[in-house]
Amino acid sequence: MSYFDHAATSLPRAPVALEGALRGAELGNPGRGLHRLQRAAADEVDRARRAVGALLPAMTVTFHAGATAALNQAIAGLRPRPRVVALGPMLHNAARRPARALGVPTWTLPHDADGVIDLDRARAEWVDDTGLVVVGHSSNVTGVGQPVEALCALAKALGARVVLDAAPTAGVWSLDLGADLVAFSAHKHLRALPGTGVLGVGPGVELEPLVRGGVGFDAAADEMPEVLPERLEAGTPNLPGILALGAAARVGVSWDVEAASGALEEVVHAAGLRVLGRSADAPALPVVSFTVAGQEPRAVEEMLDRVFDVTVRAGLHCAPSAHRVLGTERTGTVRVSSGSTTTAGDLAELARALGDLARHARAAS
Ligand SMILES: Cc1ncc(COP(=O)(O)O)c(C=O)c1O
Repeated sequence: MSYFDHAATSLPRAPVALEGALRGAELGNPGRGLHRLQRAAADEVDRARRAVGALLPAMTVTFHAGATAALNQAIAGLRPRPRVVALGPMLHNAARRPARALGVPTWTLPHDADGVIDLDRARAEWVDDTGLVVVGHSSNVTGVGQPVEALCALAKALGARVVLDAAPTAGVWSLDLGADLVAFSAHKHLRALPGTGVLGVGPGVELEPLVRGGVGFDAAADEMPEVLPERLEAGTPNLPGILALGAAARVGVSWDVEAASGALEEVVHAAGLRVLGRSADAPALPVVSFTVAGQEPRAVEEMLDRVFDVTVRAGLHCAPSAHRVLGTERTGTVRVSSGSTTTAGDLAELARALGDLARHARAAS
């Protein structure tokens, strides 16, 4: 099987992550108690936190049950509550839905036809009272990145906080961009476990916890402690997930992402298929969306899986606003995405499958 759904989750998991998970599963409950098993577990969590912290300079690392949980914590927990929220044009629902659920006015940052934010227009059209900008680092539909560093500088100058959804980019692009809060998953390019995520909290950012409970100290108080990370980490932590992520972060991802992105796009172009949203020169991850004339994207996904043994993902990819930008909101697109474990053989299989598919589609039309 040739796997081209790394944008959903990257497989296979990193061997060091699986070793970390096994170690985590055998640990005692971490805490500030006295017995040695508690200390040993707390030391392991601290070590993982330091490894992940290298991806988020000057931020406090807090662990959550995925990027979705981290984004909800960031957006719904931010204090003071924003009165107006600016949304990135290509947001995943993990960021868009919690932002819309705040129940305050939202506006979409101006952008070009590929969904890349236009900073000059954003400055000129900035909506008064915007207290929060929610933006994705790169689109999980087209792979195309946003000018996050310049956007953070603009937001800061205009008095707004920035929440960055870095689920697709953690481990492969720098996250040191000036955002106030950065959320990502363990199971994408870092190849650790699903159900584990991170929220990096910048200095001076105030968050109300969404989940309350025990933290291993201050048990007599009714309130959650003020101190991070414990303020946001009630309950027994996901030790297998955290240790897996720590191990994966220590090893890092060695991968020429730019070359991989170009190679994947070239395969789709070479088959004569219509690539969407990658006309500009913006940096991009190897995530390419296309349509096949006369074919429903879901039928294409099924055929690639059943007939060609190639795994891709069709539909809206949990990012309806991205598809509105691309004009594909009715049926979505077919998306191929590669990862650091994708081989030249996988790409050759994909090229063969897409070539056959495109020829059949042309013959049928
Ligand atoms: C862009 C983006 N943001 C957020 C998420 C949610 O991540 P998680 O699965 O860790 O909750 C995903 C997962 O598909 C994603 O692609």
